[in-house]
Amino acid sequence: MRSTVLVSATELAETKNASLRLRDEIAGRGLKYHIESYGCQMNDHDSEKLAGMLHEFGYEQAESKKTADIFLFNTCCVREHAELRVFGNVGALKKLKDENPGLIVVICGCMMQQKDVAEKLYKRFPYVDLIFGTHDLHRFPVLLEGVFRGDRQFSVREMDGEITEGLPVLRGSTFSASVNIIYGCNNYCTYCIVPYVRGRERSRASESIVKEIQELADAGYKEITMLGQNVNSYAGDEGKLDFPGLLYKVNDINGIRRVRFMTSHPKDLSDGLIQAMAELPKVCKHIHLPVQSGSDAILTAMNRRYTRAEYLNLVDALKSRVPGIELTTDMIVGFPGETDADFADTLSLMKQVNYAAAYTFKYSPRRGTKASQMLDQISKEVKEQRLKALNDLQASLQKKNNQKFLGLRGEVLVEGYDNRGEPMAFGKFSNFKMVYFPRGACTVGGLYEVEVNDTQNNSLIGRLIATGEGDTHVETKSK
Ligand code: 5AD
Ligand code: SF4
Repeated sequence: MRSTVLVSATELAETKNASLRLRDEIAGRGLKYHIESYGCQMNDHDSEKLAGMLHEFGYEQAESKKTADIFLFNTCCVREHAELRVFGNVGALKKLKDENPGLIVVICGCMMQQKDVAEKLYKRFPYVDLIFGTHDLHRFPVLLEGVFRGDRQFSVREMDGEITEGLPVLRGSTFSASVNIIYGCNNYCTYCIVPYVRGRERSRASESIVKEIQELADAGYKEITMLGQNVNSYAGDEGKLDFPGLLYKVNDINGIRRVRFMTSHPKDLSDGLIQAMAELPKVCKHIHLPVQSGSDAILTAMNRRYTRAEYLNLVDALKSRVPGIELTTDMIVGFPGETDADFADTLSLMKQVNYAAAYTFKYSPRRGTKASQMLDQISKEVKEQRLKALNDLQASLQKKNNQKFLGLRGEVLVEGYDNRGEPMAFGKFSNFKMVYFPRGACTVGGLYEVEVNDTQNNSLIGRLIATGEGDTHVETKSK
C-alpha cells in the first residue's frame, strides 16, 4: 500500500519561485479570473486550490465571464455528457477571445488527463493557451509563467500520482469545507474512468489532515467533508491508520461541529466504521453508499466485489446501530447486458433501502474501460425508460419517506436564504435532509434547532425552536 508519496522538494521549490515571480508580474494590475468547474466534489475542491493559487498571484474573481482576464475550465470525464459540454463551451469562448485577445484560456482536470482528448482540444482550439492534467495541478504557476512568456503550454504526465501539501485554497464557503484525505482509486469498476485519470490510491498523512482541519476550525469553519474516491480504503501513516481511526482523530478537533465524508465503497465498509459512526457525536448521521445496481449479475460484471445480500446486510447494520441514519446512493441503469429482470432487482433494492436521495445515471461508455468493450450494449431508448422508471420510483418513495421526519427536531447548519416568498433560511440536518424554515434572525453558517412540521417532495419545512447557536449538539431524531 502506497501512502504518502510527496511531490519532490525540487518541484515544489520551482513552483514556489514561479508563484513569486508571477506575483511580481500580476500584483496591482487588477486582473480577474473565472473558473468553470465540472463534475464531482473532488474537482470542485481542486478548483478551490486553483482559485487559491490565482489569488496568491494577485488575481481577483471576475464579476462575470466577460470581465475575466484568465478563464479556466476544470473538466470531468466520468460521463460523455460532461465531455461534450466542455467541447461546446471552449468553442463558444472564441468570441470572448476575439473581443479580448489578451484573455488567457486554460483547460485542466480529469478530461485533460486523457492525453489524446487533450491533444485534440489543443489542436482544434488554437486560442487555448494552457492545458494540464490532474497530476500537474501544483505546477500551475510554472505553466502559467510559460504562457506569460508567450508560449502555449501542454503538460499531461502519465504517472501514478503524488501528494502535494501546502497549496493555497480559496474556499467557496466560510462555514463548510472540503478536505482531501485520499487521492486516486484502485478499484477499476468496469464502467469507470476515474482510476485512469486520477492515479493510484494514496493517503495523506493524518498529521497534515488534522493540521488543515484545526486551521479551518480556528478560522470559524463548522463542518468538514472528508473527500476521497473511496474514503474507506484510507491507509494513512504508512498504512498504520485506517479510516475509522482517522474519524476518531478528527472528531477530537475543537471548534469543528460536524464531520461528513464521501464516498464510501460498500466492499470496504468496516465494522469499525459503523462503530465510529455510532459513537462519535460530530460524525453526521448520513452515509453516501453507492450501490450502482441491485442485480448480482450486474454487480459482478461491474467488478463491484459485493453482492446484493452483502450490501443489504450493511444497510441493516447501519440502520440498527446508527439510529436516525439516512443513506444516499448512486445507481447506473443500462449497464451492458442489463436485462429487465436485472433492472427489476435495482428497483426492488431501491424500495428495500428507502434512500434519502439517489443520484441516478444512464450508463455512458468510457473509452479504455472494460465495460465499453462488452457486447450487449443497451439502447438509448431502454436506458431512458429505465432511468425514468427509477427516478419516478425514488420520487414516490422519497415523498412517502419524508413523512417520517414530521416532528423531528435537530440542529440545522444554515447554508443560505430563499427570498422568493416568505423569507426562509435553508440548511441540512445531520442526516443530510434539507429543511426550509422562516428565517427570523438566522445567519448563514449558524447552527439552529429546528422542528419539522411539513414536507415537500425533496425537502422538509420546519420552524425555529432555538435561535442563536446552542452549545449542545442536538441529535436529529424523531420525538
Ligand atoms: N456511466 C454512468 N455513470 C457512471 N458513473 C461512473 N462512471 C459512469 C459511467 N461510465 C457514476 C457512478 C459513480 C458516480 C460518481 O458516477 O454511479 O458512483
Ligand atoms: Fe470509479 Fe469504482 Fe473507483 Fe468509484 S470506486 S471512482 S466508481 S472505479
